[in-house]
Amino acid sequence: MTNDSLDLQIWNPARVRQQARDLGALTARALTRWEGPVRDPNCLAGVRRLLRSRVSAENAAKIVAEVIETSLHLAHPRYVAQQVAAPIPLAALVESVVAALNNSLAVWEMSPAATAIDRDLIDDFKHLFGYPARADGRSVPGGSFANLTALLAARARLAPESWKRGGGRIAILAGAQTHYTVSRAAGMMGLGSDAVFTIPLDGLYRTDSREVPAAFRAARRAGFHQFVLVATCGSTPTGSCDDLMTLAEMARRENAWLHVDAAHGGGMAFSRRYRFLLREIERADSITFDPHKMLFMPLTASIVLFRNGRHMRAAFDQHAPYLFSVSPREFPDLGQFTIACSQRFDSLKTWLTWKAYSSALWDELTTRVCDVAHVAYDHCTHSPLLEPVHEPQLNILCFRLRRAPRSGRASDLLHWRIKEEVNAGGRAYISSTVLDGRRVFRIVVMNPRTGKGDIHQVMAEVEKAARRAAKGK
Ligand SMILES: Cc1ncc(COP(=O)(O)O)c(C=O)c1O
Repeated sequence: MTNDSLDLQIWNPARVRQQARDLGALTARALTRWEGPVRDPNCLAGVRRLLRSRVSAENAAKIVAEVIETSLHLAHPRYVAQQVAAPIPLAALVESVVAALNNSLAVWEMSPAATAIDRDLIDDFKHLFGYPARADGRSVPGGSFANLTALLAARARLAPESWKRGGGRIAILAGAQTHYTVSRAAGMMGLGSDAVFTIPLDGLYRTDSREVPAAFRAARRAGFHQFVLVATCGSTPTGSCDDLMTLAEMARRENAWLHVDAAHGGGMAFSRRYRFLLREIERADSITFDPHKMLFMPLTASIVLFRNGRHMRAAFDQHAPYLFSVSPREFPDLGQFTIACSQRFDSLKTWLTWKAYSSALWDELTTRVCDVAHVAYDHCTHSPLLEPVHEPQLNILCFRLRRAPRSGRASDLLHWRIKEEVNAGGRAYISSTVLDGRRVFRIVVMNPRTGKGDIHQVMAEVEKAARRAAKGK
């Protein structure tokens, strides 16, 4: 291709504008696809066709339309499966501008507006979680990065020599429902997954605070003197929120670093009804929070906050003369404080949505999805076929068949088959997990447009599949 033909085909302004209109219209279609199946029952055949298609610049939009048709529709009100949100339209639409600008947050001179907006967003979140002025934080691509960054900062404070020499004898005490990324981080950091001491759960599937002293004793017996206590607000399987007040007090007594993984539940800080679940979160040394979960942002949008910003800055110790400024500036080079070097401007969508609609939007939406999970709970308590496993604290509910086969294996298989059948039918989309060693159904209400009627329909689909299974069909 000559430069002229490249210009005509790829950078021609009229063509670019046409592509923007076509793809913009498709984005709007995906964001408002509320009818039809949640996932096309024939999506696999469609995907195979898609992979065989001839793609050209002329039919790119048509191909993207087929990608949409063969995808799972998170905008559909009967999608209630995993902790991935139906995105707020404005937030999703601005993503193509982020890609077009492609300003990397690593250094201020490459991202003047992006760095400033990222800092502004972090300031707003600091205040939201009740942190003092000296607190700091960073945008990261997900809760996994946030948890790892928090543990790196904890290690820098508890075992400062470990950056240079490696190792670091630090025990991590964490409830049995703690997200796997915590023990994965321990492995990656060379602390070893044996350094993770699991704390049993209470009747609400929260970290049982009565068991915490025993976990400290076990860690001491194993030769540890430095500790990180991990609390979770919004556990992955059941959405349970640990008693932060009690755990903060225990961490203080043991001089342990307290990390709160509020990747899921952090959005409750906006909800006047459910905010109490985060009481005393400001006592945490670090907090993980994912706006791409309960603030309904498209992937990815996550933050990690530190009560004392010094700890964030001490977590990494790198020099890159081709990148970082030699003299202080109004805005720092953010690459100094994160794992990634090139960094996407993820904060724009969250910042813009917050400014455009105010906190009132997330008060309404976070409260609504939790209320709808309670409707599912009520449905189960009255259902002749289904029973709840727990009362939801947030927007997650696990439930099971009232009369499951006696054999654990047969019951597990039946629950799995029913979940698969519901999802294959396209009228609802749920998930499942294992609780207390038994497979159960699970719903996570991640679409603020899921109403009470939708949730009754979802449960009715599960009941229908359960009846069919009972008849052996
Ligand atoms: C409590 C909790 N922490 C961390 C994570 C990991 O977050 P991400 O998927 O954004 O990496 C999850 C994901 O579901 C989670 O539920």
